[in-house]
Amino acid sequence: MAAAAAPAASLRSKSCLTLRFISICSKIPTKPRAFPPVPRGHFPFSSAIPRRGCFSSVIARALHSGETTKMEALEKKGSEMASKVGEFRKKLKIADIKGGPDEGLNRVGQTLVVAGWVRTLRAQSSITFIEVNDGSCLSNMQCVMDSDAEGYDQVESGLISTGASIWVQGVLVTSQGSKQKVELKVDKIVVVGQCDPSFPIQKKRVSREFLRSKAHLRPRTNTFGAVARVRNALAYATHKFFQENGFVWISSPIITASDCEGAGEQFCVTTLIPSSQEADHSPVDAIPKTEDGLVDWSQDFFGKPAFLTVSGQLNGETYATALSDVYTFGPTFRAENSHTSRHLAEFWMIEPELAFADLNDDMACATAYLQYVVRHVLENCKEDMDFFNTWIEKGIIDRLTDVVEKDFVQLTYTEAIKLLLRAKKKFEFPVKWGCDLQSEHERYITEQEFNGCPVIIRDYPKEIKAFYMRQNDDGNTVAAMDMLVPRVGELIGGSQREDRLDYLENRLDELKLNRDSYWWYLDLRRYGSVPHAGFGLGFERLVQFATGIENIRDAIPFPRTPGSAEF
Ligand code: 4AD
Ligand code: MG
Repeated sequence: MAAAAAPAASLRSKSCLTLRFISICSKIPTKPRAFPPVPRGHFPFSSAIPRRGCFSSVIARALHSGETTKMEALEKKGSEMASKVGEFRKKLKIADIKGGPDEGLNRVGQTLVVAGWVRTLRAQSSITFIEVNDGSCLSNMQCVMDSDAEGYDQVESGLISTGASIWVQGVLVTSQGSKQKVELKVDKIVVVGQCDPSFPIQKKRVSREFLRSKAHLRPRTNTFGAVARVRNALAYATHKFFQENGFVWISSPIITASDCEGAGEQFCVTTLIPSSQEADHSPVDAIPKTEDGLVDWSQDFFGKPAFLTVSGQLNGETYATALSDVYTFGPTFRAENSHTSRHLAEFWMIEPELAFADLNDDMACATAYLQYVVRHVLENCKEDMDFFNTWIEKGIIDRLTDVVEKDFVQLTYTEAIKLLLRAKKKFEFPVKWGCDLQSEHERYITEQEFNGCPVIIRDYPKEIKAFYMRQNDDGNTVAAMDMLVPRVGELIGGSQREDRLDYLENRLDELKLNRDSYWWYLDLRRYGSVPHAGFGLGFERLVQFATGIENIRDAIPFPRTPGSAEF
């Protein structure tokens, strides 16, 4: 366990690239936007960003014709354009204004512009309060307005209502209210887009089920805004962790001809069935057949059956056995008919692959990774985490702090089975050595036996694991590991890979998998094979774990599940 508890920083030395980028961005000046706002499509920055392709082709043409004066003029124009590129950042976000340690007090007296969506409007006799949210943080900007403000007639005529988008300019002042330190005293207000009274996201609380049917509007609620920001922070921290530790990001293919997990849960990608416009009226016998009456895949787009990937691992291994440490981070698809709160048909997976590494290194990497991204969220998403702590899962901050600070438990599959057999709890699925652990078993182990601590179980029976896992010397188990966490169950699944050609070929034969279709995967064992290991982490399960959101359908913007592919 000593290796698994090693801090992330010990894996590789730090890179300064990210820091350099941040310091460039922070030099960009922040001035209030021009008023009134320019109509859509005419924002200053959309024309200010030079189109690289166009500009350089003009230069190239000028060079060809020897028109030096024209070229000089163009170069001058180019450098003017370049100096404007930074302008896209000149708009202040509410997070920029209120996000600092003094919650905006350092800007009191400044004239600022805020653009966002109205959350609530309260009109009192002489004064109107408008809460505006721009999604940059949970907090709204309270805009306080009296009848002298330019555009006040829009309040009177009812144009400004919950859901409308507005542009407000005013002076930041110390707030009289106790809920915020600062508020905006409005000078000018413009309705950018009115909101129809049928807008379904009103102030009253609505169920998550209802919001799933409004997935296009739910990011405008506190909960879904916070989930989106934490999801973003987790993605950023993921890249940061791997980049700082010397991993190379690899794009594994989304369309594939091999089934990594061998579970037959793939979606077929075909053009034999007509495309969307014609699909409703397509006769079944239009699908080409062979003389034996089977589907003639040779006439399909790829000349053979092709599928959406269930995992990028096999392709990841090809790059790990060349670049040493790599990771993928992309969408994966599973046609499992699971209607649980932890299964999606389309989900994102992070899959590192480490060369010259064994199962202990793999577990150490998984532990360091999880602790790193959780710490990042606790440190950088304080306001959203406080919100989850109050409204979604009481105690989540303490739970996550423990994850960062404490060692994870590690036990073998055989020990886990003994522990479950001893348990006083009655399980729906009976427990015996050789059975696949069900969610109820996994949650019992992490939640009850180990009090919410993440648990890594290793050395599973080979019969319940995929063909590529390295066989242990006992002949019955493989060097596999699953990381279990409270509420979610299995967060990570990984293994040391079978790097011995003869063992791998025998395993494929035992499982009646066709050696020929894995020819390139077997080649990796033929040409300079190395011990290597990796894991896959379901990104939406990580979002669930880090936010306390109960249903995985609320951890991804547009969930795809059996019977549902809306939006
Ligand atoms: O355990 P799995 O099936 O492992 C693999 O796919 C390996 N090829 C990974 C590797 O070693 N590179 O899936 C990995 C993780 C699971 O632990 C779980 O978190 C998530 O992917 N996952 C799902 N998440 C949401 N919906 C589903 N249907 C999922 N299936 C797996
Ligand atoms: Mg698994």
